[in-house]
Amino acid sequence: MLQDSHSTTQDSAITKESGKVGWKSPSNIAIIKYWGKYGDQLPKNPSISFTLSKSLTETEVRWKKGSSGVDVYFEEARNEAFAQRLRKVVTRLEREIPVIKDMFFEVHTKNTFPHSAGIASSASALSAFALCLCSIEQYYVGGESHEAFLAKASHCSRLGSGSAARSVYGQWVEWGESDFNPAYSNEYALPMDAIHPSFHTIKDSILIISDEEKSVSSSVGHKLMEENPYATIRFQQAKDRIQTLSKALKEGDWDTFGHIAESEALTLHSLMMSSRSSYILMRPNSITAVEKIRSFRKKTGLPIYFTLDAGPNLHVLYPASIEAEAKAFISSELAPLCTNNLVIYDEIGSGPENFITIT
Ligand code: DP6
Repeated sequence: MLQDSHSTTQDSAITKESGKVGWKSPSNIAIIKYWGKYGDQLPKNPSISFTLSKSLTETEVRWKKGSSGVDVYFEEARNEAFAQRLRKVVTRLEREIPVIKDMFFEVHTKNTFPHSAGIASSASALSAFALCLCSIEQYYVGGESHEAFLAKASHCSRLGSGSAARSVYGQWVEWGESDFNPAYSNEYALPMDAIHPSFHTIKDSILIISDEEKSVSSSVGHKLMEENPYATIRFQQAKDRIQTLSKALKEGDWDTFGHIAESEALTLHSLMMSSRSSYILMRPNSITAVEKIRSFRKKTGLPIYFTLDAGPNLHVLYPASIEAEAKAFISSELAPLCTNNLVIYDEIGSGPENFITIT
């Protein structure tokens, strides 16, 4: 293991030869989904997400100059599969961050969400790692504004995992070119402005329908979009929805928001089912939960909706103003559909935290 220079009595003894840095970075949940990519991890359509609060990865990177390589300890155990992924990311990022050439990295990482939740998130893991590398660059090269630092961190996160590009900011985030807002780019994500107060405190209760590792990775799913017969119309649909959703988020229009959230979730899964190698990631209890949420909404008139990631677990979305009613419904009707009754009561968050700064 590398020497931990902060654990010595000489706290200021961090030299330019070695050091450590740490970032906690959250997962995010997309309302308009990124599904399909080209070139160097560029999205085929723009996406909008919000960043979570409790579901995050905590990563500490210890670096040493003079050799290269990456070792990874995940929850304190050496993890070669993760190390191989990060070695590829480092190789890619050497172009973007020349200072990391000839550095050896020892990475210690863990997730705050339950080990067995089946929601292991490349968005939180890859953004936490990219933020660490960007901090190292800033330490040696200096000089960027905070906005420029985050845009670069988003760009570098994207090269690790597309959805990670959105995790470097808190609140609502947009990634990808659209006619509606030319300020956004495929290269990196940016925060959204003009959001109605009710969406600043949105709740997300994650139903752990299954904690099994998913059978088809997102990378394979993106690839299958290249041959999907509905791809062109799907990419256009997402582009059109950017304007509609932006307006709904600005005006506090939960009805339109809910329609888009649910349609995007089911469209994503329809695309998987209609791919040449068809696959189904929803489980019977995912469908039961969808039906229960819809009938509860109809019966009560309350604004409670769902979305899905590329997996069986539902994210139940609702405003903070109905938290008591929503939680009572979730614990009595939806928790029994989950593995070990597991529901993670999360909500929108304020973004990554630099918990070990380089001194
Ligand atoms: C369904 O970001 O995991 O969560 O770029 O190959 O790492 P890679 O894929 P990834 O795709 C996630 C897709 C999604 C929708 C979304 O987050 O927008």
